[in-house]
Amino acid sequence: MALPLFEKYPALEKRLPWISLGNWPTPVQKLETLGKTIGYPNIWIKHDDQSSGTYGGNKVRKLEFMLADALKKGYKWVITYGGIGTNHGLATVIHAKHLDMRTALILVKQPLTDHVQENLLLDRHFGAEIHYASRIIIAGFQTVGVYLKHGKVYFIPPGGSSTLGSLGYVNAALELKQQIDAGLIPEPEYIFCALGSKGTMAGLLVGTRLAGMKTRVVGVRVAEFWITRPENIVGLANRMMALLHSRDKSVPPLKFSLDDVQVIHDFFGGEYGRVTPEGKAAMALVWETEKIKLELTYTAKTFAAMLDFIQKHPEVKNAPLLYWHTYNAVDFTHVLLEDHDHTKLPESLQWCFQKNMVPCLGGDPDNQGPPGR
Ligand SMILES: Cc1ncc(COP(=O)(O)O)c(C=O)c1O
Repeated sequence: MALPLFEKYPALEKRLPWISLGNWPTPVQKLETLGKTIGYPNIWIKHDDQSSGTYGGNKVRKLEFMLADALKKGYKWVITYGGIGTNHGLATVIHAKHLDMRTALILVKQPLTDHVQENLLLDRHFGAEIHYASRIIIAGFQTVGVYLKHGKVYFIPPGGSSTLGSLGYVNAALELKQQIDAGLIPEPEYIFCALGSKGTMAGLLVGTRLAGMKTRVVGVRVAEFWITRPENIVGLANRMMALLHSRDKSVPPLKFSLDDVQVIHDFFGGEYGRVTPEGKAAMALVWETEKIKLELTYTAKTFAAMLDFIQKHPEVKNAPLLYWHTYNAVDFTHVLLEDHDHTKLPESLQWCFQKNMVPCLGGDPDNQGPPGR
């Protein structure tokens, strides 16, 4: 299957590393029941939750570029970073394993939830080498340790938002444009996506512009401000443009500025991974009306922000809005039921399992564990 990015700029196909890990294009769908329930009949979803039958979500598109690069260069190990509940880390572990590479994860503290416990158990199950860094400086030492131990290790930044990886979302916007042209969805007035390590939003900014769309991309901030600074979103978008233009001169050398960046800050909740009441309500609404699963760190906050936007902006008058779903939809209940021995995780992470919160293992998600070490 040809990638929309390579269809539009054929010279890129030989000049960029890429390997297929997903199911493309991901479907688009109108959220009919939800629309009727809230009285806004033009809400659409882009199902990147269904991007892979192995592990879906938004990281697959980024990993298709970065893991292809690692493979081409002969790496056997990759290293990446995240909170203890990182979806990006788990996606990397699973997809790298599929390509016979192993992953070292350096994990930092975040609020403990059932989702965090699940992802830690799955990281171990799928063969990650796990390091817990109780302070950022320790993450630095652990990184050095991983390089000393394994020698050649491919570096993937937190969230997978390298310039190369984020091209996955340039391609995603071009994929959406093909679906618009095919009449599957109207051109959205706004796209709402989670804003974490920035690659999804920056890639969509670049891709919608290259596709000639008028759509505004709105990022919903779910991480600390210093990680998501608008200047850095612009910087990443411009680095992607420079990379594309350097590999194929027929890609127009577009420049992005702060005027292109629209961010909603009000749904962050003060801390990465902190559960918010608005997020919980949005998660329940989407499940009850559409049976689509959100999670509380990224996607529920994003959906809550879009609902609030609809309330506050009557002038959009039922224009098409697109919620870009970035969470994995593959269910791992059967894996967790068979393999959930947390004592096999490093000693430094045992504090996460003082109370079982995982519903499929008989735990109570509201039974908060200790605040963290
Ligand atoms: C479910 C989910 N949605 C959204 C994001 C944020 O995307 P980005 O890091 O590209 O900003 C992440 C990042 O880990 C994620 O796991």
